Amino acid sequence: MDATRLRAEFPVLSRLAYLNAGTDGPLPERAVRAAAEELERELRDGRAKAHFERRGELSSALRAAYSRALGCDAADVALTTSATEGIGQVVSGIPLQRGDEIVTSDEEHPGLQGALAAAREVRGAVIREVPFAEVAGAVGPRTRLVACSHVSWMTGALAPAELARLEVPVLLDGAQGMGAVPTDVHAIGCSAYAAAGQKWACGPDGSGALFVSAELRERLAVERRGYGNLADAGEGLSAKLHADARRFDSASLSAEANACALAAITLLEDYGWAAIHERAAALAELFAERLAERGREPAPRDRTTLVSFESPDAETERAQLAEAGVVVRNIPGRPWLRASVGAWNDEQDLERLLAALSP
Ligand SMILES: Cc1ncc(COP(=O)(O)O)c(C=O)c1O
Repeated sequence: MDATRLRAEFPVLSRLAYLNAGTDGPLPERAVRAAAEELERELRDGRAKAHFERRGELSSALRAAYSRALGCDAADVALTTSATEGIGQVVSGIPLQRGDEIVTSDEEHPGLQGALAAAREVRGAVIREVPFAEVAGAVGPRTRLVACSHVSWMTGALAPAELARLEVPVLLDGAQGMGAVPTDVHAIGCSAYAAAGQKWACGPDGSGALFVSAELRERLAVERRGYGNLADAGEGLSAKLHADARRFDSASLSAEANACALAAITLLEDYGWAAIHERAAALAELFAERLAERGREPAPRDRTTLVSFESPDAETERAQLAEAGVVVRNIPGRPWLRASVGAWNDEQDLERLLAALSP
């Protein structure tokens, strides 16, 4: 499949310069069809034993696809409904005494900050915020967890490589990582990685994946239990959690959401992850260069898919761009607009954005 055929899979791109995968990726037509087919089957056949078996099959196939995107075994991947949910599973499950510390950066997303604030409020943890580039060096004797982004949602900067050498567990918020940049959880050296399914994997809202290493898995408490994550729920109060990462699975994953997510990630996988990552990074780099030529210097970034740049009035300019058919977002609390550049985009999308910017 070439880039033109990949692009043709995403109907929204025929109308809009859609540069917003950092919020929600464009949906491929085949993914929407896959979801509709599941719902039609349910409409026609009802939802009994065969339906639950179908849900199980879809979960297994989706888990396997996420594990290939993350570079790990499927047994180490849980299915979640969001990056936020995966983050919450890890932060709320890690053993903490009052006064124990979690190190994080000062440019994290509410999806991580919410879990950290809860750890402080409910469990008496101390949250230490340092600049993103300094998180690895900030570990002290009371640090029990380092939790930060794989790719900063504000700037597109990458987490420091020194995180791989830490002894304390590292939880990466991979919302802007998986599907966007090469992601090998073992090479990155993290103990847990929470990914979003609806962003760079182009799945539906309510999809996601959580990698947890076998060592950390044993140490995390799991309070939320039920059919979704028990090995044999029929054992009642004696029922045990799944031995593998399925113990962190979301309580209820629908056939339609899983089928949609699976069709989308399979499309990207068919194009090839290396080719997806390279094309997106090259287009983002080109866009950053063109912006700088226009005097709109991008915020310091790494070779990722996000390009943030200053705007005199980011909210107003975002709305103006939307009227011109160009979809980007502004970053709250910073004077920036952010373009998310995917392999499905092309140079014309970038030109359209450049042309629609205020002078
Ligand atoms: C860095 C980061 N973390 C977490 C999230 C939240 O993702 P989700 O909606 O999958 O929980 C986002 C989404 O915008 C993000 O950019």
